[in-house]
Amino acid sequence: MKKYLAYICGHFQPIGYEELYAVLEAENVKYKVVEVNSQTVIFETDDNPIYAVSRCAFVHSLLELTDVGEIDDNKILFQNSYEISELKTGSTFCSRVTRIGKKEVKITSMDLERDLGNHVYNKFEENKLEVNLKSPDYTFRAILIKNRFFLGLEIWSVNRKKYSIREPGKRDFFRPGAMRTDYARALVNLSRIRRGEIFFDPFCGGGGFLLEASYLGAYAIGTDLDSYAVKGSVRNMKQFKRSNYEVLQGDSRNISIKFFHAVATDPPYSLQSSTHGEKVSKLTYDFLIESKEYLMKNRYLVYCTPSSLESEAIVEKTDYQIVTLIDTFIHKSLTRRVLVLK
Ligand SMILES: C[S@@+](CC[C@H](N)C(=O)[O-])C[C@H]1O[C@@H](n2cnc3c(N)ncnc32)[C@H](O)[C@@H]1O
Repeated sequence: MKKYLAYICGHFQPIGYEELYAVLEAENVKYKVVEVNSQTVIFETDDNPIYAVSRCAFVHSLLELTDVGEIDDNKILFQNSYEISELKTGSTFCSRVTRIGKKEVKITSMDLERDLGNHVYNKFEENKLEVNLKSPDYTFRAILIKNRFFLGLEIWSVNRKKYSIREPGKRDFFRPGAMRTDYARALVNLSRIRRGEIFFDPFCGGGGFLLEASYLGAYAIGTDLDSYAVKGSVRNMKQFKRSNYEVLQGDSRNISIKFFHAVATDPPYSLQSSTHGEKVSKLTYDFLIESKEYLMKNRYLVYCTPSSLESEAIVEKTDYQIVTLIDTFIHKSLTRRVLVLK
């Protein structure tokens, strides 16, 4: 079995780990977690995990592990070595180092890059690799945590621009309270939606979640009580030339369509977004009860709520199970809680 290292975004770490596990499950990658460290997950699998991981917003890169070792007094000690995919003979490479946390070894990143580069050159001697620092065919990256390093071939890295081009402020329709795009993508990923399936956001606002689900190849359906938001969602979907969607005016407590594979949503709970006169706790409970009517069995529902709300007590009154609960500090009056229910 090959070993892989997923390097997770530092700022959104808790969501990043869960997003990784969710996409591996969604894409049927049979994996086993071997080790979890700060911002890194090492897992092994016989399946190819690239497509699954490339869905992620909060995984920075994916390495096929080649070596694990330690740095002791400026000396590099190799401990474990692993097989990786065949490299093309005569191609070019460079070696890069990413440090996580405080610097705890004396060796500079430049020296380490040079020494690990030599190691890669020797290890793949028969492939006759050449160094090219500007545009290499292969990048070998070492993740350095304290004095341990994890070296691997980078087989995928995130393209942040993919998300930044559709940030809320860049959409034709924008309302304060819309969630940043990468966060919305992570929540849609937590719902384990797959290509060709039907995704639902019952409080769709300007359609941020619908955009992400549609980019993942799902048919994205949204409802909102507010006709202005419904028109806005449609404008945004058109702006990004989406065709696999439908947005309807409707109340999340009374949904007529009865068949969805996955749900991710951000109900109203802050000053920026109206509950249309309903108490947040009552609206949340009613929406969860209604969702039992349309969410397919053994599938997932993801929603956000302020951490101040007694979310566990509300969920207990439904027959959902909490799979994941993550709190993220947003600003001094809001810690957002993300719940994944099954
Ligand atoms: C926080 S916003 C959603 C923002 C959205 N995720 C985005 O990125 O643009 C919540 C939305 O829920 C809508 N809403 C409030 N009560 C509702 C209800 N009972 N049924 C459906 N939509 C409702 C509001 O009109 C608002 O547009």
